[in-house]
Amino acid sequence: MNKNINDFDLSVSVSDRKGLKRLAHKLPYWRLNKRQISDLELLLNGGFAPLKGFVGKDDYNSILNNMRLESGVLWPIPITLDVTDQFVKSLSKNDKITLRDEEGFALAILTISDIWQPDIKKEAEIIFGTLDQSHPGVNYLINFSHKNYIGGILQGISLPRYYDYKNYRHTPVELKSTFEKNGWKKIVAFQTRNPMHKAHVEMTKRSMLDLNANLLIHPAVGMTKPGDIDHYTRVRCYQHVLKKYPDNTAMMSLLPLAMRMAGPRETLWHAIIRKNYGCSHLIVGRDHAGPGNDKNSNPFYKPYEAQELLLKYQNEIGIEVVPFKFMVFVPSKDSYEPIEKIEELTDYQTISGTELRKLLDKGKGIPDWFTYQEVIKELEVSRPPLTQRGFTIFFTGLSGSGKSTLANGLMVKLLEEGSRPVTLLDGDIVRTHLSSELGFSKKHRSLNIQRIGFVASEITKNGGIAICAPIAPYRFDRRFNRELISKFGGFLQIYVNTSLEKCEERDAKGLYEMARKGIIKKFTGISDPYEIPENADIIVDSGSNLPEELVSQIYFQIQELGYIRY
Ligand code: PPS
Repeated sequence: MNKNINDFDLSVSVSDRKGLKRLAHKLPYWRLNKRQISDLELLLNGGFAPLKGFVGKDDYNSILNNMRLESGVLWPIPITLDVTDQFVKSLSKNDKITLRDEEGFALAILTISDIWQPDIKKEAEIIFGTLDQSHPGVNYLINFSHKNYIGGILQGISLPRYYDYKNYRHTPVELKSTFEKNGWKKIVAFQTRNPMHKAHVEMTKRSMLDLNANLLIHPAVGMTKPGDIDHYTRVRCYQHVLKKYPDNTAMMSLLPLAMRMAGPRETLWHAIIRKNYGCSHLIVGRDHAGPGNDKNSNPFYKPYEAQELLLKYQNEIGIEVVPFKFMVFVPSKDSYEPIEKIEELTDYQTISGTELRKLLDKGKGIPDWFTYQEVIKELEVSRPPLTQRGFTIFFTGLSGSGKSTLANGLMVKLLEEGSRPVTLLDGDIVRTHLSSELGFSKKHRSLNIQRIGFVASEITKNGGIAICAPIAPYRFDRRFNRELISKFGGFLQIYVNTSLEKCEERDAKGLYEMARKGIIKKFTGISDPYEIPENADIIVDSGSNLPEELVSQIYFQIQELGYIRY
């Protein structure tokens, strides 16, 4: 039996499904992105029950205003399908569309009930409580989500295909039947987007003992917070950690959830999903599903807001909250204890996520009391010390500002240092080899910069150094690249802040003169904008310093940041 086809919960028989597949090939189709594929999977497999499709306009408004579907059922997060203007142009109510994965396989057919343009800012304010774009959910909504939503009921053709960790992937039906086969009645779920360490194991073991329950390690493996450790590494860590529990008391299942980091509302959502997967309890800690701090270093949500909200709704959902007891290591007892039980405030140790990342960055050992040797090895592979990690140096500045000279000088210094391969992606080189068909419209410049970002991200991921030196006039594209590349290694943006007057005075290629005469259109700084970087890591002015001095200065700063040894 092919479980991918037969076991999910949207009741379509196998013969109907063959018919659907034939129909799917004749319909207009939308190619889902990663987040939409995660949403679709949970809609199809019953993880998002009672939803039977992407929400329509009335449910959407009702979720925003009342945290409930129109029917009155509690549902805190709008599961929407966002699509382009171009795609909705020829569609109307009752039309059918095919939803395909990134490779083009048909996964479902959606019968359209609504097409509308949401008030994205209102959605961000209500769901996330902020418009601050340092919140990843807000950033996604405002900068990446398309501005048309399509709602409608789904007919499933196939669940998404996976090649990784297949034995750890279950539909709610499969997971419930596994619990039943094992004779597990009380199941406490542990949601996580991070590796697990000794404190987590101690805490989950205590919950199991207190409740006389079994444990489901239920990590979210769809999109999580940008910068999180990739799920491959995390799952290998969980596999090691699972061995620390007595036999047949704990299991792991991977939840294909694309998190929104919506704190309290998201916590209710997590609880509903875990209820659907057959769990009786959910561990909820401090700042559950919160993204940390805003741009002014204030927390987006109050530490216990999520716990409090779920406590209010737990009976209605039918799952019990298990408040997370923050466990710390007490050296004098050589054991873990809940922090509230510690009398001497100096007598305990803990390592925060930020401190752990710093230890790994510096290549300093992680202490044994904190985690297991097997986990340390996985973490060291996934996050090598900065001196061994790939990185990108991204110069930006006006034409003639000196980017290419500095980029070339820096490349030579880095080749001399010799720790990693170095690739130069200069504006002119890229426009010859990678973007020769592109011009200088806003759309083409964005495409050009994002192509450079893609190549640099691959170089960075594979441990090399990419030096990019385009004008990159628009903030959006620079930010896009920073986010993309930071997932794989270091990213340093250098703003070459040479004044327009100086660049024009140099006019090495005679382009400014032609731009002033209108012979060259849309010339950056003259007839097209250059948006000054707000968050450059390094700012240099080639107008008042020699290139050799600036290259040394940049090289020194790279050393200071830890990427190059002294
Ligand atoms: S962008 O905006 O980042 O895509 O530009 P980039 O790929 O760096 O290409 C810039 C080089 O192209 C030449 N050139 C122009 N620059 C700006 N505006 C217009 N309209 C234009 N037309 C041609 C120019 O030589 C740039 O090179 P540099 O090395 O920056 O002077």
